[in-house]
Amino acid sequence: MIIRSVEVKDAEKILEYTKIVGNESNNLLFGSEGIGLNVDQEVKVLESIINHPKQIMIVAIANDEIVGLANLSGQTRERIAHQARLAISVRKDYWGKGISSQLMSSLINFAKEIQIEVITLEVFSNNIRGIKLYEKFGFEHIGEFKKFAKINGEFVDAKLMNLYLK
Ligand SMILES: CC(C)(COP(=O)(O)OP(=O)(O)OC[C@H]1O[C@@H](n2cnc3c(N)ncnc32)[C@H](O)[C@@H]1OP(=O)(O)O)[C@@H](O)C(=O)NCCC(=O)NCCS
Repeated sequence: MIIRSVEVKDAEKILEYTKIVGNESNNLLFGSEGIGLNVDQEVKVLESIINHPKQIMIVAIANDEIVGLANLSGQTRERIAHQARLAISVRKDYWGKGISSQLMSSLINFAKEIQIEVITLEVFSNNIRGIKLYEKFGFEHIGEFKKFAKINGEFVDAKLMNLYLK
């Protein structure tokens, strides 16, 4: 398995990947429709991430397919420039093999390199795997967001979790 930074040529595969993981898991902000961009739009998003000094997107690749995707996005406004947001997913067939742990380590190292002090995220309160993953990396529970998402008419609460690097 290869873990590397995203490249513009990954655009089409990333769009396919988001549809697959969106279909496999109810714990993401999108379902089987994926992220709703066409390839040209995704290319622009990837170019913007690749050229941004405070953003990184990394992919895990097995058998020439994307099996994991994670990104860290540093805030740009000066008063919150010490914060970055994190998101991660892995294809179901590849759960429990340590892929997300490798992706998390890469993102946290990048965050340290760019002097991020707090990594923030929201995780659905019923996503035990996700919560355990974040706890393993030292994320703290800082609050609960009632009615964070609405999926098929049902509200889902989220836990707010932060990793304090300093
Ligand atoms: C959450 C997710 C990213 C974990 O990915 P993964 O590659 O399976 O995770 P890993 O194999 O690296 O395991 C990391 C940790 O997760 C936790 N974990 C893994 N499997 C678990 C299980 N069955 N039950 C509870 N915790 C579990 C453990 O803490 C594990 O660390 P350990 O093996 O050292 O104990 C993956 O299940 C996923 O993509 N889910 C759908 C999308 C999602 O929920 N993303 C997060 C949204 S906030």
